[in-house]
Formats: sequence, C-alpha cells, structure tokens
Amino acid sequence: MIRIAAAGDIHLGVESAGTYRPRLEHLAEHADLLLLAGDLTRRGTEEEGAAVAEELADLPIPVFAVLGNHDYESDRDESISKQLESAGVRVLEGDSATCRIGECTIGVAGVKGFGGGFPGKCGSRFGEPEMKAFMRHSEETADRLNRALEAVEGADLSIALMHYAPVDETLQGEHCEIYPFLGCYLLAEAVDTAGASLALHGHAHGGSPRGVTPGGTPVRNVALPVIRRSYQVFCLDEHRLQEAVFEDGAG
Ligand SMILES: [Fe+2]
Ligand SMILES: [Fe+2]
Repeated sequence: MIRIAAAGDIHLGVESAGTYRPRLEHLAEHADLLLLAGDLTRRGTEEEGAAVAEELADLPIPVFAVLGNHDYESDRDESISKQLESAGVRVLEGDSATCRIGECTIGVAGVKGFGGGFPGKCGSRFGEPEMKAFMRHSEETADRLNRALEAVEGADLSIALMHYAPVDETLQGEHCEIYPFLGCYLLAEAVDTAGASLALHGHAHGGSPRGVTPGGTPVRNVALPVIRRSYQVFCLDEHRLQEAVFEDGAG
C-alpha cells in the first residue's frame, strides 16, 4: 500500500516562517510521498518563495509540487520553482517524475492547469482574440497533462497533480458563477485519455473534497480549507483508494 500525503493552497507568506514545518513533523510516519497542489505563496514573490522553500527543505520523503495562480502573481514563477528545487522539492509543469516506494513505481504528472469551465457551461475558442487566448491556454495545459501522464504509463500507480480542478463536483460550495475560473473539463479528459489512479487539485478553497472524472478516476480537492488539516493521506492499494485521516501535531 502506498500512502500519499497531499495538500494545496498552503499560501505561506514571509511572516509564516516556522509555522508550516512543525505541521510536517510526523509526515514520514504517515506517508511515503508528499504532493503539493499549488498556491504555495500568497503573491508569488521571491521572498515568499524563499520562505516556502525553507519550510519544505529536505523533508524525509519525496516531495512533488505544482505551482498555482498565486505563485505566478509577481511573474517570479521560474525563480520560485528554482528555490523549491534547491530545497529538494520536484516542481512539475507539463512534465512527470517517478519514484520508487518499496516494490512500487509511482508516476506523478503535474500541471498548473487553468480555467475554462465544464460541459454545457464552458468557454470555447471563438470570437475575440482574448477569449481564444484564454481557451488556448486551457487546451495547451490539458495537452501537457495528457503527455505527462502518458510518460508515466509504465508506472504501477500514476497521479495527476493540478492546481485547477478537472471536474465541477469538487467545486461545490463555491459560487457557480466562478466555476469557469476554477477549473476546466479538458483536464478531466486528459486524465481519462491517459489514465491515472488518482487526480488531485487545489484552488477551490470553498469547494468539496470528492469527485470523479467521467472515466472513473477519483478526484480530490486538497486545498487546506477543504481538508481542514495540514495534509490529507490517501492510501492506494492495487488501484483502490482509501482515505486515511492522520492528524498532524500542530493541527
Ligand atoms: Fe489558493
Ligand atoms: Fe489558486
């Protein structure tokens, strides 16, 4: 059984130094790897990136992350990725990585993702150039997720890690008017086309924890305000998903 800890939207600021790390104190007792679903900072500054890197540095289990929209706010996303990589966090954007846990190979494919909406209530590449550019980005990020998942097809378990939501079930609780800015159905199509054991996202602080893609892949919203703990642990056993609740020391 593989134990995957996941959290999104930790939104650390400079003044958060020293507040998140204690919450990871027992991480290695509960999980084999940690996945972070973006919005690690508040405004995406390098100072915040350094604070996040400090909190996550040299954890005892493999850590994979995607960035979220907040991490792009100051146009320092590349610097933040480098800061995190220097701290031992593998940052994924349209690519994938594998790690070996015991006899099992885990593939993690990551993209930030983007908005666009959900069937019957979505944008399309039509009309103004601005609308075309919006939906082109949605399509491109979904294509990148598809290719990243295909690259880990040989893994025993594969996980799609995103910031934006692939389905609207995990948005329930948010105002439906903003669903098109919270996720896009094209991400779910990518997950279903390539296949994945589990899809994780954040971004929707007011959303719901559980959903499923049309093809049957479980989707979990791991934004901190949704999971209401420092991380949620998912146990994957021969493609069956169980959710274990481990409370961290600092709550
Ligand atoms: Fe967020
Ligand atoms: Fe976000």
